[in-house]
Amino acid sequence: MFVQQAIAILDSGVGGLTVAKEVIRQLPREKIIYFGDTARTPYGPRSSEEVRLFTEQIVNFLIQFNPKMIVIACNTATAAALDFIAAKVNIPVIGVIHPGARAAISATKNGRIGVIGTLGTIRSGAYTEALQQLSPYVQIVSEACPELVPLVEQGQFYTDHTKEVVYRSLASIRQYDMDCLILGCTHYPFLRQAIKDVMGPKVKLISSDEETAREISTVLYNKGQLASGDETPVHQFYCSGDPVIFRSIARDWLGEEIQLTPIVWQVRSHV
Ligand code: DGL
Repeated sequence: MFVQQAIAILDSGVGGLTVAKEVIRQLPREKIIYFGDTARTPYGPRSSEEVRLFTEQIVNFLIQFNPKMIVIACNTATAAALDFIAAKVNIPVIGVIHPGARAAISATKNGRIGVIGTLGTIRSGAYTEALQQLSPYVQIVSEACPELVPLVEQGQFYTDHTKEVVYRSLASIRQYDMDCLILGCTHYPFLRQAIKDVMGPKVKLISSDEETAREISTVLYNKGQLASGDETPVHQFYCSGDPVIFRSIARDWLGEEIQLTPIVWQVRSHV
């Protein structure tokens, strides 16, 4: 029997579910195998060497399912490991930074773009590079918001505490006169309402999920690898940490029950 190859998606935790949801919406025939490294989240404060090592470990795990593509649905891991992973495997590897940059360039009217992300992503300068590669006319201001990912992993999307932390994290960048703010971390769409409250109606919030799903679609189309058939795919989810909270966040976000298998890493941390 012909077995449909899946799209493998990885993140440090639940953030990549924002990309997975768009893939399910735009490409409903495709099967997804998702890995969230919730035992070692957040990746943001870690060194790029360590993030690269963790990403490689997850890719080694995912590759056993013979996927047709790897999607690094984590900005921090994209910045640290995209080229490294792409050189190691012989299937397409897609990150989220270029799609996010493209979406911002297409949305901005005044060329003034803000970027928020983890410490690792902002420190890497990957967004500035990606934006300037597309257009020399944009002005960019960026800010690391290290307190946000842990809130999302706890499922605190719109509590009073979250609103306060989001307000504090954006206090400086909101002074800048921009018309677009890139949510340069796949966890941040979970906080969209809290971020919108602070940034106001004039600033468009850009996330990479839609554009990344579009890129996946284009790459698979060009390779003649789009899934066919009428069977509804059964997605598989893996997480390395607490399965209860992961399942509950995934179910609420995706609007359906998920097939989840907890994984215990032999080595929990490199350091
Ligand atoms: N979703 C990851 C990203 O896009 C979060 C990284 C983290 O775990 O700090 O960067």
